[in-house]
This record gives sequence, structure tokens and C-alpha cells, in this order.
Amino acid sequence: MEEVVVSGMRPTGKLHLGHLHGVLTNWADLQARHRCYYFVADWHALTTEYESVADMRESVIEMVIDWLAAGLDPERSTLFLQSEVKQHAELYLLLSMVTPLGWLERNPTYKDAMSQAGGKDLSTYGFLGYPILQTADVVLYRANHVPVGADQVPHLELAREIVRRFNHLFGLKLPEPQALLTGTSKLLGTDGRKMSKSFNNAIYLSDSWPVIEEKVRNMVTDVQRPRRNDPGHPDLCVLFPYHKLHSTPEAVAPIERDCRAATLGCREDKELLLESLRRTLPAYQERRREYEAQRERVWEILREGSARARAVAETTLREIREAVRVN
Ligand code: TRP
Repeated sequence: MEEVVVSGMRPTGKLHLGHLHGVLTNWADLQARHRCYYFVADWHALTTEYESVADMRESVIEMVIDWLAAGLDPERSTLFLQSEVKQHAELYLLLSMVTPLGWLERNPTYKDAMSQAGGKDLSTYGFLGYPILQTADVVLYRANHVPVGADQVPHLELAREIVRRFNHLFGLKLPEPQALLTGTSKLLGTDGRKMSKSFNNAIYLSDSWPVIEEKVRNMVTDVQRPRRNDPGHPDLCVLFPYHKLHSTPEAVAPIERDCRAATLGCREDKELLLESLRRTLPAYQERRREYEAQRERVWEILREGSARARAVAETTLREIREAVRVN
């Protein structure tokens, strides 16, 4: 039987190379072998961003344009918007009835996020219940595999426990979703910190060439190589992982060798990377421009995907309502 893959992403707006290599390429590859559902987790965004919703629509559409640019194919995968499929809310409610509070409170992600909330007040019911909503997200499609980053593994563990308990109580046979580690992006931001929108150190799929050039030319490289004649350390260098992802293997080997031998300087190395980016990025950039010029079509893709998702979700939910005797 065909395996089902489900994953979601919060609407964060334009995506960067970290998203491309850490998540999107992986999602796109899974389309060849599995029935895939990818959705914009807009309700999830509200669990932490309920005080800043002004840009929500813009964040949704810009992110989906990047999904399409990265090769997610609405003919092969179901791309949808969580809030357009109300079944997620209904199953979330039903699952919440059987989920012990202690399971949610012990969730390590919950404790971490609470302690790093910054100015946000996360002492809400919605934030505590977040993993139950995530469980509903995948159970509705009977997901076998859920591609996620390592930070999400505790949520998937919790999802499996919730499903097991729910199955046991109501005599159901819903599959327990398995985390499928996507492997995190090896790319750091241009300043050597974690690549993140908030650090303003990311290269975006939507960046123009002058912007990309400036970012690459100003990139921090190898802090252990203060002088041009010092031998370099590709394994410590911020730039080198970009080569591994964007330069051909035949080009990477001499770059590594010449960097270590100090016969290649960081400035020239950056020009080599720019050449590789000029070869690898246009495929994404062109697709992005194409969809950007037809935003209404992108909304239409989400509407169609949401209708398909709704039909599948409703079938699962009918069986669940019957088991719980609330139909
Ligand atoms: N919690 C995920 C994140 O913050 C997003 C998400 C919501 C998700 N629902 C999901 C991921 C279901 C996988 C499956 O990144």
C-alpha cells in the first residue's frame, strides 16, 4: 500500500537556503515515492504569534510561492491551508479529551519554549495543547511518515502515545505516525550564527542578484584564518558548506585542497561560490518569478488542495465520530 507522508510548516514568509536544503528538497524528493500532504500550519502560528497577525496572509502566500519554486508539485502532492480544513479542529477537540495534562506538561519543547518566550506570553491553553493539534494534523490523513527536524521528534513521540491511547479507548486502528528525520541544514547564516530571519543573515530564494552578491561578499568565512597566507579550515568555515551544496563535486575537491594550502583566498573563494549559485539558483528563481506574477493562481492551488484534503480528512473523521458515538 502506498505510504502517506504529512508535514506542515508555519507561515513564516519568504524562505531561505536553510529551508531549501533542510526541508524543501527533502519534501520534494518524497513526492516521487509517497502520497504527500504538505500544509501551511496557520493555526499553529497562532499558538505563539497571536499578537502579530497583521502579515499572516502575506506570510502564507510568500511561503507557498517558495514551496512551488522548490519543486513541490500540486499535481502530485496535496498542498493546503490548515485553517481551510476544519476537520483538524474537530479531531483536535476529540483527541484533547483523552490526552493527560501531564503528557503535555512534560513535553521538553514546551518547557524550552516557555523559558525562551522572549516577550511573548505562552501561558495559554492553545500553546500547551499544540502537540494535540499536531497529532490531529497527521492522523486525519493516516500518516505513516512525518518529515520533521530533530526539534519536532518529541512532538511525534507524543503523537504516537496519543494515537495509541485513542485507538485503545475507542477500538480504532489509526496508524501511529513515525518521525522521518529530514536532517538539518548544514548552512550557517552569513554572519556565522544559525541562519534565521531574525538575525538578518540569510540568503533568500527571493533575493535579487545584487543582494546575493553583497551577502556572499560580506560573509564571515574562517575566523581561524586571519591572514591570506594562513592555511584555511574548510571544516570550520562558514562558506565551505555552501560549496558542498551548490558547487559540483569536481569543483569542491580543489577548493578544499587549495584553501588548506592557502593558495586560495577567501575573497576568490566567494567568487567561486557566486559562480556556482549563478548555475544552481536560477531554476528556483525563475519558477518563483512565474508564480509571483500569478498570486491568484497560488491561492487557487491552496483552495484546490484544501478541498482534496478536506475530503480525505472527512472520511477519517466519519470513522472516528462513529467510534466515539458523536455522530
Ligand atoms: N510544529 C511544526 C513546527 O513548528 C509544524 C507542524 C504543525 C507540523 N503540524 C505539523 C509538522 C504536523 C509536521 C506534522 O515546525
